Amino acid sequence: MGHKQTVTLIPGDGIGPEISAAVTKILAASGAEIDWDTHEGGEASALAGKGVMPDATIQSIATNKISLKGPTTTPTGGGHQSANVTLRKRLDLYANVRPAKSLPGYKTRFDNIDMIIVRENTEDTYAGVEHMVAPNVAQCLKVITWEGSERVAKCAFEMARKLKRKRVTCVHKANIHKLSDGLFLKAHEHVAKEFPDLTFDSIIVDNLCMQLVTRPEEFDVLVLPNLYGDIVSDLCAGLVGGLGVAPGANIGSTGAVFEAVHGSAPDIAGKGLANPTALLLSAVMMLQHMGELQKAERIEKALHAVLAEGKHLTRDLKGAASTMQFADAIIAKMN
Ligand code: NAI
Repeated sequence: MGHKQTVTLIPGDGIGPEISAAVTKILAASGAEIDWDTHEGGEASALAGKGVMPDATIQSIATNKISLKGPTTTPTGGGHQSANVTLRKRLDLYANVRPAKSLPGYKTRFDNIDMIIVRENTEDTYAGVEHMVAPNVAQCLKVITWEGSERVAKCAFEMARKLKRKRVTCVHKANIHKLSDGLFLKAHEHVAKEFPDLTFDSIIVDNLCMQLVTRPEEFDVLVLPNLYGDIVSDLCAGLVGGLGVAPGANIGSTGAVFEAVHGSAPDIAGKGLANPTALLLSAVMMLQHMGELQKAERIEKALHAVLAEGKHLTRDLKGAASTMQFADAIIAKMN
């Protein structure tokens, strides 16, 4: 990197501050040169009258272009929007990226999965155009644009190239939704021409689901419209051990926010019981995004070694280590 990168840190609510402290300690030990610009966001911020995602926090992400975010509790009642929806809308974070990679120590049906799922995050049936056309007839519009499809395609192909992946697969249902999914597919075929070094193919979403539960190891980078992406990314998280260990990123033209898929776990907050793996893997994605591939690999290898060894695991993994003891075991493996 050569110079220190400033990253907006939003510790968040519940277990957020504990797992953020563990992850920033591991990043520091990896040699990643990061200046943390810490900001509020979430329920505590809303209750203090500053809003669920204060302007200063959004401004910081817009300036630094990168953020690591702990989970935030969505305040119930009071008309608060969730912190994540606010961030996605204000920063136009159009691609949700979730790797699904087999982890040592997580016994699942498959042990050789290594996929990245890229979900378009702003269009499709999520554009919010839904109404009753008659008392017993509801209609929801599926909106797909060329621009929306092209930018998520570029995001997927560029990431595939950067991470030395081999294949990008566009997932669709263009045999039925000929115009909307057809446009999504055409935009991907168009962008694929700019990436001759990568294999491009496409698959119908129902066929993909069948293949994913029989031979998931064959897939590499998947890119999907919003609704299929929502469902398939959870399916893939389940294939490698569940949402508790799933990292994620929301990427847009003005910035990228990296965060675990799980929530703020209020039931175990403040007790030192939380597993920081998902946030740590999100930080690994962040380092990859910053071009720090070696440091990302160093952390990931140390994490795998600790999981495989099974001596310093958190309670959710049937161990007795605290959040920080788990983090320290990872740091010890990096030395
Ligand atoms: P949750 O993911 O916080 O918790 C579900 C279960 O998993 C709990 O038993 C919890 O203890 C456990 N768990 C979650 N993360 C863990 C970790 N790192 N280590 C060990 N155990 C862990 O889901 P829940 O309870 O539905 O949501 C709690 C709050 O989080 C809600 O306010 C929700 O809106 C919010 N949330 C925030 C998200 C975000 O900021 N990205 C995502 C999902 C939920």
